[in-house]
Amino acid sequence: MRLRLLLLPSLRSKLHPPPRHCCSSSPITNGVASRRRFSTEGSAPRPVIGPDSVEVLGYSYPRDDFTNVTPKILEKVGRNLHNQSHHPLWLIKERIKAHFYSSYMGRWGNPLFSVHDNLSPVVTVEQNFDSLLIPPTHPSRKKGDNYYLNRATMLRAHTSAHQSDLVRSGLDAFLLAGDVYRRDEIDASHYPVFHQMEGVRLFSNHELFSQVKDGHQLSLFESGGRRTPQKQETHTLEAVKLVEFNLKQTLTRLITNLFGDLEVRWVDCYFPFTHPSFEMEVRFHGDWLEVLGCGVMEQELLNSAGAGNKLGWAFGLGLERLAMVLYSIPDIRLFWSQDERFLKQFRVQDIHQPICFQPLSKYPPLHNDISFWLPDDGFTENDFYELVRSVGGDLVEKVSLVDDFTHPKTGRRSHCYRIVYRHMERTLTQQEVAVVHGQIQQDAESELGVQGRY
Ligand code: PHE
Repeated sequence: MRLRLLLLPSLRSKLHPPPRHCCSSSPITNGVASRRRFSTEGSAPRPVIGPDSVEVLGYSYPRDDFTNVTPKILEKVGRNLHNQSHHPLWLIKERIKAHFYSSYMGRWGNPLFSVHDNLSPVVTVEQNFDSLLIPPTHPSRKKGDNYYLNRATMLRAHTSAHQSDLVRSGLDAFLLAGDVYRRDEIDASHYPVFHQMEGVRLFSNHELFSQVKDGHQLSLFESGGRRTPQKQETHTLEAVKLVEFNLKQTLTRLITNLFGDLEVRWVDCYFPFTHPSFEMEVRFHGDWLEVLGCGVMEQELLNSAGAGNKLGWAFGLGLERLAMVLYSIPDIRLFWSQDERFLKQFRVQDIHQPICFQPLSKYPPLHNDISFWLPDDGFTENDFYELVRSVGGDLVEKVSLVDDFTHPKTGRRSHCYRIVYRHMERTLTQQEVAVVHGQIQQDAESELGVQGRY
């Protein structure tokens, strides 16, 4: 099963995700956005997505052929579940902060890691991809996988989008939490908006080697070296091994602090912005669950962010994934619930208090199928998932392709999808589902050029 809550979705199945950075809740001001006028008196509020522009968090972005955000997605921007007191995602974030604050102290007893949880999710494509050395043709940049406001601006696909800016601002150790956005399939563990926590730590020569006997004779860098599976060309093997050890030890301690003793394993993987790169998996109910991606930061990234004399590690973990495991939350849509029966269970006095989550009763599902001929000029499954989400919202629990048929004579291709509808808080009627389902059929024909097969 692909768990993507965290972070890893597009990364792993497509060659690694796009990074993005951004840095503050201020807007992007390179001529791309302008401040919106909040003058709604006497008239209905302006639609968020207008014919020429898209408005997000009070700024207006001109539309172009890349614009693909939907009103349903924009509704989520600004919800900041990770900053909502006693929300389960907030609780996990606070526990991670508390762990880092108490375990890592600076020379004056100050916390070593600074924490940032208020950076705008609107970032430039440069931040999300280029600053992370993601090549211009990399598949993770696809329109079908991301939410673009226009060609230059997008909703961040991962918190790595901010790495470069925060390093450039002079930080050597930081944590950063935020909402991230990816177009994807729909099921109990996939939702187009989820939350990540990023961590970065840089080391100078002195910091890395001062604890090692005769460490002053060692260096971080070498010239004429080669890139191998273990290290980058400019790094010495001894420096990389110490950084890698520190990274893995930091993360193992964090996970042990959150979950108690549990089995952990490291799997080699690839990200364009780290080398070597790893994923951590934890054993949960007998299965290995991937919970984070990490690695030794690419030196080119640090060089261009003004920290060329240091080596660093970075990690990104998925907060929903951790919360689902820690509290046995069965469905990712529950994080968006405003139902008191869900929220009140997390209102503990002390963030370390164990929580025994009682699932809300499951209301019965209803499924309806939809079949159509695909247009000759191309069809992207994610576009259909997006359309289903736009019309059905959180009523849709899962969409799966149940039949892919090619007509033997005409060569025409058709898909049949099964859509499972379920409300988290009440029983749905067949009539109300029929309205939504009919609308999906109609919109698929008019927007995706498919032809219904009934
Ligand atoms: N940004 C990656 C993701 O979204 C995770 C990651 C972060 C990997 C930092 C390496 C370093 O999956």
